[in-house]
Amino acid sequence: MKIAIIGTGNVGQAIGGSLVRAGHTVTFAARDGATTRQVAATAGASASASPADAARGAEVIILAVPYLAAEQVAAELDGQAAGKVVIDATNPIKADYSGLSTETGGSGAERFAQLLEGAHVVKAFNTLFASVQADPGGHGSALDLLYATDDASAKAVVIALASSLGLRPVSVGPLAASRELEAMAWLNIRLQMISGGDWRSTFVLVDAPAAATAA
Ligand SMILES: NC(=O)c1ccc[n+]([C@@H]2O[C@H](COP(=O)([O-])OP(=O)(O)OC[C@H]3O[C@@H](n4cnc5c(N)ncnc54)[C@H](OP(=O)(O)O)[C@@H]3O)[C@@H](O)[C@H]2O)c1
Repeated sequence: MKIAIIGTGNVGQAIGGSLVRAGHTVTFAARDGATTRQVAATAGASASASPADAARGAEVIILAVPYLAAEQVAAELDGQAAGKVVIDATNPIKADYSGLSTETGGSGAERFAQLLEGAHVVKAFNTLFASVQADPGGHGSALDLLYATDDASAKAVVIALASSLGLRPVSVGPLAASRELEAMAWLNIRLQMISGGDWRSTFVLVDAPAAATAA
């Protein structure tokens, strides 16, 4: 698959490297061109000058940016997300890490769906720490990629990407279920912060209903 990753930090590098190793064609974009080129070269990917340029040639766009930059990133995509699958891997964490910034409203994913007109938005990868995204098989057993979407084409893409990474795709419901996925991610982040963990903890749903894991 041709995939544009917006963001070259922990998540962009981790998912990008794993997707390249799985045989996908990855193009990175962020604001800092030098870092983008360096991250792309390390991953075996391409670098674009802007999110819109990266998205133009892609079938799938992965958002790996701070949620607080949502409006700015949506503007930078300049309409290029329309008709494409957009995977929202962000978590709407407050700047001071005191909780979620969406406590009074919907999810970050629903906000991206409003901002990116015509995009097929799916929430996925946000519950996996970058350490897991970089090495999806590192725990020794297949881990779950929990995802939420209203869109059949986005669902098909996430299932295919999960399979290519050795992850088990688990549908948790419509895009509105991103509220719970973001809360789960925050639970895991807070757990790590208060217990001084190694940022490798992750969720596995034992005895998941067959319909949730069906392709
Ligand atoms: N770290 C994790 O384990 C983890 C796991 C799951 C989900 N998440 C979520 O995933 C997102 C990224 O996390 P991260 O740890 O990768 O953050 P990070 O290391 O701070 O990276 C953020 C990236 O976003 C880019 N960026 C910021 N503003 C931008 C803009 N306006 N346009 C384009 N690119 C922009 C930055 O590059 P420039 O400054 O060059 O633009 C940087 O490459 C966050 O929402 C986070 O909550 C993180």
